[in-house]
This record gives sequence, C-alpha cells and structure tokens, in this order.
Amino acid sequence: MNQVYLTGITTTGTPHLGNYAGAIRPAIEASHKSGTEHFYFLADLHALIKGISPEEVRQSRMEIAAAWLALGLDTDRAVFYCQSDIPEIPALAWLLSCQASKGLLNRAHAYKAVVQENEESNAKDPDKGITLGLFSYPVLMAADILMFKAHKVPVGKDQVQHIEMARDMAQRFNHHYGEHFVLPEAQVDASTALLSGLDGRKMSKSYNNTIPLFAPEKKFRKLIMKIKTNSLEPGEPKDTAGNTLFEIYSSFATPEQIEAVSARYAEGIGWGDMKQHLFEHLNEILAEPRDKYNELMSQPKLIGEVLEQGATRARALSQPFMAELYDAVGIKPMWQ
Ligand code: TRP
Repeated sequence: MNQVYLTGITTTGTPHLGNYAGAIRPAIEASHKSGTEHFYFLADLHALIKGISPEEVRQSRMEIAAAWLALGLDTDRAVFYCQSDIPEIPALAWLLSCQASKGLLNRAHAYKAVVQENEESNAKDPDKGITLGLFSYPVLMAADILMFKAHKVPVGKDQVQHIEMARDMAQRFNHHYGEHFVLPEAQVDASTALLSGLDGRKMSKSYNNTIPLFAPEKKFRKLIMKIKTNSLEPGEPKDTAGNTLFEIYSSFATPEQIEAVSARYAEGIGWGDMKQHLFEHLNEILAEPRDKYNELMSQPKLIGEVLEQGATRARALSQPFMAELYDAVGIKPMWQ
C-alpha cells in the first residue's frame, strides 16, 4: 500500500523560513519518493481561530499558496487544496467531536497555555477569551488528517501532541464503529523541527519574530542583520550550540558547509561577518523562488485554478468516505 503524506499550514501571516524548513521542504522532498501519495493544504478554517481580519485571511491564503508553488510543489503529484473547499472536513470534525474526550482536549498545549496566562494574570475565569474553536482545534486537525487516511504527517515538534490526539480519536471511532481510520504518525525532522526566530525564541507567528521567505532582498538582509546575538567580539571563539545564526544556517546547508562554518566559529568569526554569510547563503537559495513567487502573486486566478483542481481531486475521496462514515454511525438513506 502507498504511504500517504499529509500536512497543512495555517493561513495566518506571511510564509517564513520556519514554514519552509519545518513543513514545505520536507513535504516536497517526500513527494519525490516512489510509493507515496501526498495531500498538502491551506488550513484556512484553522486561521479563523486566531481572530484575524478577513483581509489578512485572504492575503495569507494567497501568499502561502504562492509559496508552496514557487518552492517547487508538483501539483500533479501532490493533491494541493484549501481546507475550506472540502465541506466533508468540518462534517468529520463533528463525528470526531462526539468521540474526543473533553479531558483529553483539556491537555492540549495551545489551550493550556492560554489558561495558564489567565491564571497568572489572576483573571476571574481561567477560560477568559477562549473560544470553542480554539479548544476544539485538535479535533478539526484530526479531521484534516483522518479524512485522507494519512500515514505520515510532517510537522514541527509543537504539533506532535495534536497528531497523538488524532490517533486517539481514530482509535475510539474504530473501536465503536469498525476499522475506518488509518492511525497517523507525526514525522518530525530533528534538524529543522524548531527553527529559532529573530529574538532567539522559536520562529512563530505568535511571537512576531519570523523571517519572511520572500521579503525583498534589501529587507531580507536587514532582518538577518537584526537576529539577536551575544556580545562576543570578532576574534573570540564562539559556540555553535544554541546560536540562532548557526541554527538557521545549518537548516539550509550541506554537512560540508556546516563543518566549514563550525570551524569559523572556533576561529572567532565576527557576528557581522556571519550575518552577511548567512544572508548571502539564503539569498542564493531563495532568489529564484522569490521571482517565481512574485510572478504568482500577480496571478491570483492561476493560483485559484490550481487549488480548485486540487479540491476536485480531494473531494473525489472525501465525499464517498464521508458517506461511508455516516453510514457507519447509522446515518444513511431511510430505506436501507
Ligand atoms: N496546526 C498546524 C499548525 O499550526 C496546521 C495544521 C492544520 C495541520 N491541520 C493540519 C498540520 C493537519 C498537519 C496536519 O502548524
């Protein structure tokens, strides 16, 4: 049986280096392997959880779609679609809601983090500001994954818990209604799973510390120059461990290049020189995709058509599968 790979990116903000190293690149690489099938999508329903403006949702959908295409996703090989174009996904999310234990969802990191913030700020209600959408985020994500019977889900480390929850919901459903779902596994690429951002914390839209993949060259250089370093002077030997510049470089370099740069750290390369080196290295990798990206961004109709074709292929699977699942729970034509 073919191995099915599936991953999505939430459409908030601009695609950044972390999206590329953590999701897009491993997903595209996997798509070249034989004996595999691929489902890659824009998680635009998940974007609504964050309470961002319609304009931002619209813009981010375009930018993230254009990034996948500019970075070389082969849409003949991979099914590439918008989550919101597949109405069976929210329908499945409901069936899974009826299996997911609330206690399990109480333990989701994203939910717990907000509760903790509320408790620390002595809010009267620990659930202050928390929507049902945020709370049930892992259920919608489980529906994304289980709908297409994914075996492997390439994600960053922070998402592993969600995949485990999806397994749990799938197991419960299978136990009650028979073997319908495949149990998915997270695929975390250890070297790139957690890229640090401008301030040294994990590169994340929530921390506002991301480096956009396709910022114009000048702006891109400026951002790289802003990455936080320590106060060691040129000539002083430097540690590569835990160094953001080195970490980002390593995520985009060959073992030989990494070794050469490690040697320069030991020799005491100045931070300014290292930043310039990192900029030139990334710029070389990104220059061509950047041109493609800009071209695509001026053709929203083309992007829309590609996604529509993807949705048609996805629905050819999701429609009959949803009918099978409804049937399994007892929702079927009256005469049957
Ligand atoms: N939650 C993921 C993120 O924020 C995005 C996502 C939504 C996803 N549905 C998914 C990832 C299904 C993998 C599989 O990064």
